Amino acid sequence: MAITFNPETNIFYLDGKDITYAFYINRVGYVSHLYYGARISHDNLRFFRAPGRSSKTATPPGIDQGGLSYQFFDPELGFYGTSDYREPAVHVQSVEGDRILNLLYDSHEILPEKPAIGGMPSLTGGETLVLHMKDSVSGFGADLYYTVYDDSSVIARRAVYKNGGEHDCRLLRAYSFSMGLPGMDYDVMSLYGAWGCERHIETIPVHHGVVSVDSKRLSSSATLNPFMGLIAKGTTEHHGDAYGISLVYSSSFVLKAEVSMAGETVLTGGINDFDFSWKLGAGECFETPEVVIAYSADGIGGMSRAFHDVFRKHIINPRYVNASRPVVINNWEGTYFNFNTEKLKAIADAAEGTGIDTFVLDDGWFGKRDDATSGLGDWYVNESKLEGGLEAVIDHVHAKGMKFGLWFEPEMVNEDSDLYRAHPDYAIGKPGRPRCYGRHQYMLDLTRADVRDCIVDSVNKMLSRYGIDYVKWDYNRNVTDIYSIGRDADRQMEFAHRYVLGVYDICERIVNANPNVFFEGCAAGGDRFDPAMLYYFPQIWTSDDSDAEERTRIQYGTSIVYPLSAMSCHVSAVPNHQTHRMTPMRTRGDIAHLGATGYELDTTQFTDTDREAVSAQVDEYRKYEHLILGGDLYRIDSPFEGNFFTEMVVSKDKSEAMLLVYRRLSSPNAESKRIKLYGLDKSKTYYIEGLDITAGGDTLIHAGIALKYPKEDYTSAVYHVREVK
Ligand code: GLA
Repeated sequence: MAITFNPETNIFYLDGKDITYAFYINRVGYVSHLYYGARISHDNLRFFRAPGRSSKTATPPGIDQGGLSYQFFDPELGFYGTSDYREPAVHVQSVEGDRILNLLYDSHEILPEKPAIGGMPSLTGGETLVLHMKDSVSGFGADLYYTVYDDSSVIARRAVYKNGGEHDCRLLRAYSFSMGLPGMDYDVMSLYGAWGCERHIETIPVHHGVVSVDSKRLSSSATLNPFMGLIAKGTTEHHGDAYGISLVYSSSFVLKAEVSMAGETVLTGGINDFDFSWKLGAGECFETPEVVIAYSADGIGGMSRAFHDVFRKHIINPRYVNASRPVVINNWEGTYFNFNTEKLKAIADAAEGTGIDTFVLDDGWFGKRDDATSGLGDWYVNESKLEGGLEAVIDHVHAKGMKFGLWFEPEMVNEDSDLYRAHPDYAIGKPGRPRCYGRHQYMLDLTRADVRDCIVDSVNKMLSRYGIDYVKWDYNRNVTDIYSIGRDADRQMEFAHRYVLGVYDICERIVNANPNVFFEGCAAGGDRFDPAMLYYFPQIWTSDDSDAEERTRIQYGTSIVYPLSAMSCHVSAVPNHQTHRMTPMRTRGDIAHLGATGYELDTTQFTDTDREAVSAQVDEYRKYEHLILGGDLYRIDSPFEGNFFTEMVVSKDKSEAMLLVYRRLSSPNAESKRIKLYGLDKSKTYYIEGLDITAGGDTLIHAGIALKYPKEDYTSAVYHVREVK
């Protein structure tokens, strides 16, 4: 049993791989956090708690006991109105208008397997505790779900709110969890960015008051990823306590860390309550998205590996987790909108024989689409551009033994499209108000069933009519003008959550209806890179910035939470289209190899040397692919901190590893560089191919190796480290 309850102490213990999570119910029924961290014995942890007291604080309802207050306990689910002034997880208004809540323990059950969440992706499996909490006056309730795994160092949590009263109520806030951490010696780590520079790393100390990361964009966003790290002071990449919160959600979110007056850190978050309210009828429930909280005593790297393990084992479609990925040639940076059938065939011809196995036709094949101003929504072939129809391209590609992929942007519409002319009301916006454009386009109102049916129908028609093996699902703007025609005024603020439920619905009906099609996610690059999207899309186009130097930081930051196999990484032409930077072909390949590798350029421009280089790169990628898909990542040098970027990807049995080294800028007086090969087995002996070094794992970890770099800027190398017996 991974989950146990001690009725004498009223403590729950939840044990996962290397972790224990514990909380208890106090004598008034308040559910209070005790511990989350390294695996420990089931001792009476209540002895370790000394709740603060102050004679000037309010008491819990009906208990006139000077100084006892909820705010001196760490909540498992914070609520408002009854003596706790910290950020609550739930805020609800009754039909009379009051917002008073006193959620106490009612009962619990332990399930052998976690039930799925209705309409939203969540982790699979795992023994699950369901804790029922109730407000005895209003009948309002909350069910807290806790899941632990024997193969992952995380706890998964969510809350389901229930209106057990006789009248409607209104959820003003419906977060997924609360949790306490002792003291305030933590830095908050966040992954911030923008288009073309997604998931850069920032750390700031927690402080009295609230630190938050959020999105109001209805996408999990490039601006801030739905992740918050709580890194104990003194923790490094390799040692020390690191917690990470990752929300399995793709719409507006918020995660908060608040240091209370008692000097404790309380965490909470979930669906963003900005621009949110949800009417809950009598007897109705509201499901919140799942939050995955990882812990490692092995530093930030250990926290990342905990996330990588759980997402590979419990959210990415098992069919694809360890399956060799397509190596694509995508025509976007090669042609943009400027192509015809002959050009596409020529690109496929020039890729033949290099090991590239999938041709992906990007934007511009449909409707009247010659630039970004028209055509979105019209998912039928632009026959005047593609002479001979799409079949001519697909047949040509298939005849070469290559697979065929196609770009869609299902959630969008251009004003200049047949879809918009027929159904202007399908676009999000308020009649009578001029709307904001984003890349010349509007967003479709996915909160409406008729709009969703129309999208599903037109995309599925294309997928069933043509031999399409691969889909790139794009999403290129953020929402504005939030208003849904036909929805009651008092439900308009349900939009952000209903929109994403609509996204998940069309994903279910398109992705799941086409099990033989491989789907890649994309959102103007990485504007919607989150665990829920990974449920549908085993890999996501990481960024529209394909410059190898920029990618070192984007991919390093992304790997804080997401496995390498989730990152789609392409080799593109130089000068790079986003930065105009020249980087060597070797480096572009090596950096792309730290993810699902592909190409994005005009192959008809290849010289013989280029073709040979690509061929060698694809061979090398295939040699290491099993490590990219299933290995453990050890980040050694951070490109955010210096001139070097070094990573090791080690097989689970530690019998081999891929070592990638990169130096940004050359200098006449070059630094000498010692690299410690973290992640190897100290008791094994290894051989490093290319360097001709044989040494013990202990030596390679503690003494490391010294490397010489070539004279040029932006140079890299990859070495195979393998066990010798
Ligand atoms: C987005 C994607 C690109 C490409 C274009 C096409 O920007 O991120 O890869 O597909 O759209 O319009």
